[in-house]
Amino acid sequence: MSQRWWGSKLSIFAIFLLRDGGFFARGDTLESDLVAMQDLRRSMNIVLNWYNGDPCDSEWQGVACDDRKTRITGIALINMRLSGSLPSSIGNLTGLQSLDLSLNQNLRGPIPSSVGFLVNLVRLSLQNCGFNGSIPREIGSLSALSFLALNGNFLSGRIPPTIGLLQSLDWCDLSNNALDGELPVSSFGDTGFDNLTVLRHMHLNNNNLSGAIPAALSTMPKLFHLLLDNNNFSGAIPPEIGNLPQLRILRLDNNKLEGPVPETISRMALLLELHLTNNPLNGSLPDLSAVQNLQLIRSGYVNFSPSQIPLWLLNMANLKTLEFFKGNLVGQIPAELFSLPNLEAAFLDENRLNGSIDFSTASRSLELVSLEDNEISSVTSVPSPLTVRLSGNPVCSNNNPDKFCSSNGRIWNPSVDRCHIMCDDQKTLQPATCSCAYPLICTIQFITPPFSAITVDRIDNVTGQLSVALNISRGQIWIGSADFTSNHRLVMNILFFPPGKNVYLDQSLVSKIILLLSIQRVSVPEFGPMLLTNANQPQTTPPVAAKQTKFMFIVTLCVCVGVSAAIAGLCIVLLVVRRKRTRGPSHDYGFSSIGEIAPKFKGCKWFTLDDLRKASDNFSSNHLIGVGGYGKVYKGQLHTGELVAIKRAEKESFQGLEEFRTEIELFSRLHHKNLVNLIGFCTDDGQQMLVYEFMPNRTLRDHLYEQALNWKTRLSIALGSAKGLEYLHELADPPIIHRDVKSSNILLDENLVAKVADLGLSKLAPTCSDEKTYSSVQVKGTLGYLDPEYYAYHQLSAKSDVYSFGVVLIEIITGKQPIDNGSFIVKEIKESVAWGGVASLLSFVDKRLLDETTVEQVKKYFRLALQCVEDSGQDRPKMNEVVKKLEEIIKLQEVHGSSDHQQNHQQNGDSNEKEATGESSFDVGALNPEFYAWSSDDAEEPTFQAFGFTAAGERQAGLDHRCTVDD
Ligand SMILES: *[C@@H]1O[C@H](CO)[C@@H](O)[C@H](O)[C@H]1NC(C)=O
Ligand SMILES: *[C@@H]1O[C@H](CO)[C@@H](O)[C@H](O)[C@H]1NC(C)=O
Ligand SMILES: *[C@@H]1O[C@H](CO)[C@@H](O)[C@H](O)[C@H]1NC(C)=O
Ligand SMILES: *[C@@H]1O[C@H](CO)[C@@H](O)[C@H](O)[C@H]1NC(C)=O
Repeated sequence: MSQRWWGSKLSIFAIFLLRDGGFFARGDTLESDLVAMQDLRRSMNIVLNWYNGDPCDSEWQGVACDDRKTRITGIALINMRLSGSLPSSIGNLTGLQSLDLSLNQNLRGPIPSSVGFLVNLVRLSLQNCGFNGSIPREIGSLSALSFLALNGNFLSGRIPPTIGLLQSLDWCDLSNNALDGELPVSSFGDTGFDNLTVLRHMHLNNNNLSGAIPAALSTMPKLFHLLLDNNNFSGAIPPEIGNLPQLRILRLDNNKLEGPVPETISRMALLLELHLTNNPLNGSLPDLSAVQNLQLIRSGYVNFSPSQIPLWLLNMANLKTLEFFKGNLVGQIPAELFSLPNLEAAFLDENRLNGSIDFSTASRSLELVSLEDNEISSVTSVPSPLTVRLSGNPVCSNNNPDKFCSSNGRIWNPSVDRCHIMCDDQKTLQPATCSCAYPLICTIQFITPPFSAITVDRIDNVTGQLSVALNISRGQIWIGSADFTSNHRLVMNILFFPPGKNVYLDQSLVSKIILLLSIQRVSVPEFGPMLLTNANQPQTTPPVAAKQTKFMFIVTLCVCVGVSAAIAGLCIVLLVVRRKRTRGPSHDYGFSSIGEIAPKFKGCKWFTLDDLRKASDNFSSNHLIGVGGYGKVYKGQLHTGELVAIKRAEKESFQGLEEFRTEIELFSRLHHKNLVNLIGFCTDDGQQMLVYEFMPNRTLRDHLYEQALNWKTRLSIALGSAKGLEYLHELADPPIIHRDVKSSNILLDENLVAKVADLGLSKLAPTCSDEKTYSSVQVKGTLGYLDPEYYAYHQLSAKSDVYSFGVVLIEIITGKQPIDNGSFIVKEIKESVAWGGVASLLSFVDKRLLDETTVEQVKKYFRLALQCVEDSGQDRPKMNEVVKKLEEIIKLQEVHGSSDHQQNHQQNGDSNEKEATGESSFDVGALNPEFYAWSSDDAEEPTFQAFGFTAAGERQAGLDHRCTVDD
C-alpha cells in the first residue's frame, strides 16, 4: 500500500518536473538553446508539441535544427495565434538563421534589442504582428541578414542609422508602421540606407517619415523598388534620384513634396511606374519619352502650371495607366493619346480639357476614359467596350448621359449564381464543382500594380500562377473579389478549396499555401510585389480523435486542473472581497437576484418597478411607442413631470445579463449631445428595464420612410449622428464600438437633433480604436448594415461602425431601405458607380430632394458614403474625418450655388494603418522547418526557394541555406 502511495506521489512529482521543463528527455540540443526555447514557449504562449522532449530530437513544430541536432537554426510560426511578447532570451539562439513569426497579431511589445546577437540570421520576418516600440539599433549587428520584413506592426520612432550596417540586405520592408523622423543616410561616420549596396527592395510606405528625400539614396546601385508613399516627406525631389540605374518603381505619392519634378527622372530607362499623386509639386511633368518601359504615370493633385496634354506622351508605347486628376490640364486632347497601343485607362478628371473627342482610332486595349468635370463639348465614335465618363462636361447637358456607360472593370466580383445551391452558414460554395466546402481564404494586396483594369485575362493569369507555384489545380482556386483601393493598391480575396468535392482541406496544404504566399514564393509578374495580409480558415480538418499521446494528455490535464483550480480559488476570493465591499446600505439593484453583484453606476438612477408602473400607467398599450429587438418601449412621465422612454425587455427575450450590464455601464458613463441620455434603470423582480430621455420625434427611420425631411435637416441629422459616433470612437474612455448603427437607432429630439441610441451590442473598442481589429465569436448587428469584413471574418473594429454609418448615409439621401425587395442598396450603388461613375448616382437621390440639392453636393455626399462602405476597413475614413467631410458638404449647402471646387481627394486614411489580420489560424499542422534563400538570376521579382520545406516534414538534406544574391 505504501509502495503504491509512493508510486503515485512520484508520478505527480515527475509530471511537475516535466511541466516545468526540468525533465525533458534530453537530446543533444545545446543547453542554452533549450532554455531559450522554453522561455519562448512560455512568453509567446506556444502550445503545439513544444512540451514534448527535445526540440531537435522530437521535431518540435516549426523548428529546424542543424544536421548535428545541436543548434536551433530556424523558427517559423506563421499565423499560429501566438500571443504575449518576444522574450529577450531569443538572443541566446545564436545559431538561428531564420525567424518568422508573421501574422500573429497578438504578439505585442517591443522587438528586444537582443535580436542583435543573432549574427547568423539571414531572414527576419515579423510581418503583421502587434509589435510596438522602436526598431532596436542593435539590429545593425545582423551582418548576414538578407530579408527584413517588419511591415504591418505599430513600430514608432526613427529608423536607426545602424540599418546601414546590414551589408547583405536585399529586401527591407518597414511599411505600415508609425515610424517617424528622417531617413537615415550616411554622414560623419554614421551609416544609413545609402550604405546598403545590395538592397533592391526598400518599402517604407505608410509611415510618418518626414524631412527631405536624401540625395544620397541615389548611390544605391541595385535599388529596384523605392516606395516612400503615404508619408510626410517634404522639400524637393532630389535630381540625383535619376542616377538609380535599376529602379523599376518609384512611389512618392501622398507626401508634401514641392518644387519641380526633376528632369533626371527620364534617365531611369528601366522605370515601369512613377507615382507622384497628391504632392504640391509645381512646374510641369518633364519629358519622359526616353523611359520607354514606363507603364504607369500617376501625377494628379499636384500644383503644376496650366499646360496642354504633353505631346511626348504620344510616344509612350507601353503606357497602360495615366492618371492626371486635377492636373491643371487645358486645351484639347490629342486623339492619338487614345490610340496608344497599350493604354487601358486614362483618368483626366477635374481639368479644363475642352473640344470634342473622336474615339474612332482608339486602341483596342482602352477600357476606361474618365473625364468628369472638364469642358468637353462632344464625343464621337465611342467603341462599345469602352467606358467614357463625362459627367460635369457641357456634353452631358445634352440629356444623353447613358450612352457613355459600360463596364469599367475596376472591381471584380464574380457571380456564383449558376450553381443554384446554398451552403449552410459555415461552408462556402465551391463554384467549380458546385459543392460546399471549407476553403482557406487569403487576402493579398498587390501594392503597386501598373494597370487599372481587372480583366478576365488578369484573373486567369493570377489563377494560373498560383496553381503552378502551389501545385494545386486551377479549379481549387477562386478569386472571390478584387478591388482597387483609393491608393492604387489591388486587394484580392482568394479562396483555396479542397480538391474535387472534398469538404476539408488537407492541413499540410493549408500550411504550405500560407507559407509560400507569405514568403513571396508566388509571384505574378505583371502584378508586381504583393503581401499576404490575411489568412482565414473558418474550419480546419475534421477533429481527429485524441491523437495526443497519453503523456501529452496527462500533462495537459494536469496543467488544466492546476490552472482552473487556481482561477476558481482566485474568483472565490475576489467574490468574497467584492461582496464585502458592496454590502451595506446601498441597494443592490436587483442584480444579486439574477446572480450578480451590483455594479456602480455614476449619475444613473435606480427606479423601482412601482415608479415605472406609475409613470407608464401600468405599461398600458396607450403608452407603447415602439417594439424593438429586445422588447417594448413605453412613454412615461415621472412624478417630476419629466418625460421618459422606458425600454422593457420581454422575459423571453431578456438580453443576457452581460449585455444588460454593458448597456447600463456604458451609457451611464457617456454624455454627449448626440447620444441618447440614460436616466436610470430598474431590475426589480427580475425585470430588465432602461429609462431614457424621451425623444418626441422617434427615429430617423420613421421619418425617412413616413414623413419627408428636407435636405438640410437630413444633413444635420447625418452630422449629428456622426458626431455621436465620433464621440464613442475617439473621445469616450475607453473607446466604444456601437455595433448596431442603423437608422432606427438614430433618434430625434423635439428640434430634430439626432441622438444615437441602443448601445446594447456595444463592445469596448481595442485601445487603438480603429487600427486594430479583433475577432468576436458571434456576429451581431443588423442585416443590411453589417460590415462585410466583420461578417466574413468576424473582425470587429470601429471601421465596422463606419460601414454601417455609410449605409445610413445612403439611406438618408436615397430614402431607400438598405435591403429593398431582396436587393442591397450598397451593392446597387457600387455597381452603378462602376458602370457610370459617381454621376450615375444622381438617379438614386430621393425625388423629394431634387430641388434642394446641387449636383456637386450630391456627388461629394455619395463619395463620402462610398468611402464609408469600402469593402476593406482600412480604406474607410475615421468618424472624425466623416464629420469633417459632412461639415464641408453642409457648408456647400449654405453657400448654395457657389462653385467652390474643393479638392475631394484626401490624403488617404490608410497611412499608419495596420492590415487586418485574421484571428483564426491554421492549426498546429505539419509545418516543418524551412529555410529560404532567394536567387535573382532571371526574374525581376525575387523568387524565393523554400529550401527544406516540405509539407510532410522531411527536410531535404544537404541544401545550402545561404542566401545567393547575385544580379
Ligand atoms: C557608408 O557610406 C559612406 C558614404 O558612402 C561611407 O563614407 C562610409 O564609409 C560607409 N560606411 C560603411 C560602414 O560602409
Ligand atoms: C509633417 O512634417 C511637417 C514638417 O515638415 C510637420 O510640421 C508636421 O507636423 C508633420 N505632420 C505630421 C502629421 O507629422
Ligand atoms: C515652385 O515651388 C518652389 C518651392 O516651393 C518655389 O521656390 C518656386 O518658385 C515654384 N516655382 C514656380 C514656377 O511656381
Ligand atoms: C504536385 O502534386 C502532385 C499530386 O497532386 C504530386 O504527385 C507531385 O509530386 C507534386 N509536385 C511537386 C513538385 O510537389
